[in-house]
Amino acid sequence: MSRKPTKTTKPPVETTGHSWDGIEEYNNPLPRWWLWTFYATIIWGVIYTIAYPAWPLINGATQGLLGHDTRLEVAEEIRQFEERNAPIEARLVSVDLNEIANDPELVNYTQNAGGAIFRTWCAQCHGSGAAGNKGYPNLLDNDWLWGGTIEDIHYTISHGIRNEEDPDARYSEMPRFGADGLLEKEQIDQVVQYVLKISGQAHDAAMAAEGEVIFADNCAACHGEDGTGDRTQGAPNLTDAIWLYGGDVDTLTQTVTYSRFGVMPPMGGAELSEAEIRAVAAWVHSRGGGE
Ligand code: HEC
Ligand code: HEC
Repeated sequence: MSRKPTKTTKPPVETTGHSWDGIEEYNNPLPRWWLWTFYATIIWGVIYTIAYPAWPLINGATQGLLGHDTRLEVAEEIRQFEERNAPIEARLVSVDLNEIANDPELVNYTQNAGGAIFRTWCAQCHGSGAAGNKGYPNLLDNDWLWGGTIEDIHYTISHGIRNEEDPDARYSEMPRFGADGLLEKEQIDQVVQYVLKISGQAHDAAMAAEGEVIFADNCAACHGEDGTGDRTQGAPNLTDAIWLYGGDVDTLTQTVTYSRFGVMPPMGGAELSEAEIRAVAAWVHSRGGGE
């Protein structure tokens, strides 16, 4: 018996004519809400690309009618930020360097700004916490090559060390005793033993005794007669356990044979403003090793 369609039955939905293993596809219209949302997104997209920068061109992109520019926004934010900081920076630049630590507001400012400047400009060499690396001094201890007063630190940061950019950079040069034939290999070994002795390490007493004379003749002028160093020349103290390059026999021999030439770029002038240099100098000075 064939089934007759009753009045309540919907007319059969058309199919697209596609059939996969007997599964057919209805040809239903898209739901209305979906279609309108779809049209709305197209209209939105067109309006957006007219109003805002959108289409990439060979050079740059379409600008958009609203003149929106994220770079200008950032520039504006920076301008506002600088405007807010201008009064405190003006004060920071005008006070005596030694007064900074006595002014709670300046301390607060230099702790924040100085720390941020350090992480951006100094950490790649001195380490993120300022504890240094081989050849890059630890700035947290009381061992200073060039000086640990805030004036010294400020000068070092402004002009740098042994660089060619700044004629006022701190400068000194340890001779290359081995490479330039100033001392024989044996004399270098002896003076190295003497450095081991004055830094309180195991050493060969007979060689160190010879080395003491060599030290007095060749090294004392910079490192001091007692080996405690000379800050006017950036010559390290050799009697403490703090080493810039290393205190073992191999490293000491290397240092005396070829010398060292630690370079720090100047931060004054184009790199950092006076307020920034003062902020980071105060930050370094407050870290524990400041004098
Ligand atoms: C490119 C690497 C480099 C960067 C960047 C750098 N320094 Fe230095 N800095 C050095 C070296 C190397 C020395 C040691 C030079 C020497 O042997 O006398 C030094 C020495 C110093 C000293 C002297 C330490 C002492 O014992 O007297 C201070 C202070 C200092 N740096 C602070 C800073 C600050 C603050 C910054 C960031 C604004 C900075 N440095 C960025 C490489 C760098
Ligand atoms: C003209 C000055 C001068 C003379 C002379 C000199 N030095 Fe130096 N010495 C320096 C300076 C400056 C440094 C730091 C170099 C640097 O950081 O680039 C240094 C670094 C060193 C260091 C590295 C210390 C460390 O912490 O790693 C040793 C060791 C040393 N000198 C030993 C000697 C010995 C031994 C002699 C004599 C044979 C000597 N120096 C002669 C100036 C001098």
